[in-house]
Amino acid sequence: MHAFPTDYDQYAATYAWTRWAVPWVVEPLARVVDGLPSGAAVLDVGCGTGNYARALSEHRADIVCAGFDISKPMLREAAARPSRARFVVGDASRAFPCRDRVVGLAFAVDVIHHIERLATFFVEAARVREWARSVWEAYASQQDLARAWMRAAIAGVSSRR
Ligand SMILES: C[S@@+](CC[C@H](N)C(=O)[O-])C[C@H]1O[C@@H](n2cnc3c(N)ncnc32)[C@H](O)[C@@H]1O
Repeated sequence: MHAFPTDYDQYAATYAWTRWAVPWVVEPLARVVDGLPSGAAVLDVGCGTGNYARALSEHRADIVCAGFDISKPMLREAAARPSRARFVVGDASRAFPCRDRVVGLAFAVDVIHHIERLATFFVEAARVREWARSVWEAYASQQDLARAWMRAAIAGVSSRR
């Protein structure tokens, strides 16, 4: 699949005040986090402005939450809000900025339609996992998912012309 262009660098400030962690995404993630031991690491892949890493670090104070994203402006917005979560730059189509087998849960919300190399994404997610946890990808609604795949498909077709 070919990644379609995004404007998250330009959109970061607007994203920061128009998007937040929605309960129907946080709740299932929080249930997985509840099963992790104290001190476990949670990785938010394509964390954007950090909404979900922040929400999970508030949900459980004894876990370590980190997020990475390809967009520095999105990460600046993430770092601008008080949080115990840490944010770094990284490309989820390439090597995750993370050592082997240190992560209790890796998840991505509304991200994989941007990923140029999905195989690398899943190989990296498996590499960093400490236990056999699943990788999550959540969308706000089925309509959002359909729209995301539609955009990716259209971009894929146009790039082959
Ligand atoms: C719709 S936003 C979702 C942000 C966050 N997960 C959330 O739900 O609020 C998509 C994010 O994916 C990031 N992104 C796109 N391609 C990426 C890549 N190859 N590696 C890491 N992040 C990427 C964008 O910069 C953007 O922050």
